[in-house]
Amino acid sequence: MMRTHSCGELKKKDMGKEVTLCGWVQKRRDHGGLIFIDLRDREGITQVVFNPKVSKESHRKAHELRGEYVLSVKGKVSKRPKGTENKSLPTGQIEVLASKLNILNKSQTPPFEVADSVRALEDLRLKYRYLDLRRRPMQKNIILRHRVAKDIRDFLDSKGFIEIETPILTKSTPEGARDYLVPSRVNPGRFFALPQSPQLFKQMLMVAGFDKYFQIAKCFRDEDLRADRQPEHTQIDLEASFVEQEDIYALIEEMMHYLFKATLGVKIKRPFPVITYQEAMNKFGSDKPDTRFSLELIDVTKVGKKSDFRIFKEAESIKGIRVPKGEKLSLREIKALTEIATLYGAQGLAWLKLTKEGLKSPIAKFFSEKERNNLIREMKAKEGDLLLFVADKKEIVHETLGQVRLALGKKPSFINKKEHNFLWVIDFPLVEFDEEEKRFKAMHHPFCMPQEEDLALLEKEPLKVRSKTYDLVLNGVELGTGSIRIHDSNLQKRIFQLLGIGEKEIFSKFGFFLEALEYGAPPHGGIALGLDRLVMIMAGRETIRDVIAFPKTQRATSLLTGSPSSVTEEQLKELQLKIER
Ligand code: AMO
Ligand code: AMP
Repeated sequence: MMRTHSCGELKKKDMGKEVTLCGWVQKRRDHGGLIFIDLRDREGITQVVFNPKVSKESHRKAHELRGEYVLSVKGKVSKRPKGTENKSLPTGQIEVLASKLNILNKSQTPPFEVADSVRALEDLRLKYRYLDLRRRPMQKNIILRHRVAKDIRDFLDSKGFIEIETPILTKSTPEGARDYLVPSRVNPGRFFALPQSPQLFKQMLMVAGFDKYFQIAKCFRDEDLRADRQPEHTQIDLEASFVEQEDIYALIEEMMHYLFKATLGVKIKRPFPVITYQEAMNKFGSDKPDTRFSLELIDVTKVGKKSDFRIFKEAESIKGIRVPKGEKLSLREIKALTEIATLYGAQGLAWLKLTKEGLKSPIAKFFSEKERNNLIREMKAKEGDLLLFVADKKEIVHETLGQVRLALGKKPSFINKKEHNFLWVIDFPLVEFDEEEKRFKAMHHPFCMPQEEDLALLEKEPLKVRSKTYDLVLNGVELGTGSIRIHDSNLQKRIFQLLGIGEKEIFSKFGFFLEALEYGAPPHGGIALGLDRLVMIMAGRETIRDVIAFPKTQRATSLLTGSPSSVTEEQLKELQLKIER
């Protein structure tokens, strides 16, 4: 063993011990006679003192030390002189008086300081990710991720779920994104697709009788990236046979309860509230509402239409948000909210302030006394409130006011950052209409079971058909989605047909799967939770890149390895591929 202790371990009780520590130089301070080093490893920081009276040789060598040099230091643990203790460090009571110093490796001057907070741009951090990962907050995130995965494995194992790996080189599964393709050398002109999720395999594992499956699975999607999306992400993917929706809710709620307690020591409330998709859209303008604050959307179509405001008169829908004590918002702040509304497609954002001096609003003139009072009554507004309105098509009203609501929620007074607000959103429509492609598209994926009572509408009024789907939302983030699946091949075929997938295509893309359903597929259902998003929220971060050791940039590249990169002519030839430039 090269060391006797970690750098986070030594306390007062270790005084007098001869120890050897290994780690990186966090900081060097030269105080004339004495040289101090903060030595860092994964577990913490220990102060090492080089005193020529203790070891001339080590003191001489210590002059060479620079940030991020790798050392092994032998010495005696001693109490720090009075007044020099560091309360913010667990090892702050002691220091190690070095008798021997071994420089194990040197380091270039790092492009940014390896410190708890960095000012460096994220691109630089990603290029030198191994240095960025040395920083304590990043180490914490990655260690938390390990704990979460470990606790989830333990929990699911205790519930009889077994982990089964599914292929990475596979055939396209329709999760709604583009596939990453891998050319096959031995089958020229043919391609594997990297899985967007293990969806079809986990369903086939149910056909295979495994009953309860789970996997911490890598998924690959070529899609437009955002703060909570990566080209490769990790799912806590599970599936079970002979289950109903409620069984999955209960399992996931127990799992989250166990996980938050085990890793964060936080007790979360159960059962999680359940709301329907329709209700979520109506009240929050979103299918993943952040319910840590209310600011609900209120329908004022009837009252609004009676006014002389042309835009209101002609609108399909008018909704408003009451902002308690919002009269304090400046015109500038209201303008910023208006910009959000228009960015998402609204024509504008009407507002009304109820101040002590009376009503203030650019649209007040279009309302009679009675209409104003009606509006105020509908909105349950009080003195000091600000009311915000959008009038438009229903979908636009929801989308834009939903975004305005989120922007308002970001104000510190509305959100308790410590809260973990779980919510099930259920009863999603089975399909939506894609205006561009002029066809129906599965709202989740094509394997979700329609609700029995809506089945008769499947071909006649497909938009009215609800599915047995459920999304788990945490603090306004879509954490996971799942459903009871179709286990009948004929119904599955009807769904493919509804989605405009032709007979031939059905056969070539999903023939193997439809066939599997014909060999005694049990009723089954499951869910997949985004592990990256879960850890991001647990770690209190704003982007999943902070909880992934080696993430890609927003442009789906790796700055560390320089991938994707070009390949040689030889390689292309072997694959019988040509690049058109
Ligand atoms: P879905 O496509 O909703 O469902 O994915 C499940 C969860 O995975 C996470 N997620 C992502 N995280 C980071 N980057 C991405 N690009 C990304 N895409 C998805 C989200 C999401 O809720 N097979 C189905 C699940 C099922 O029906 O069982 C599926 O993949 O947190
Ligand atoms: P205008 O008469 O166009 O200047 O608009 C008067 C106010 O109504 C402004 O505050 C606009 O932002 C707002 N407004 C315009 N169009 C809409 C709309 N579709 N819904 C809500 N408010 C709107």
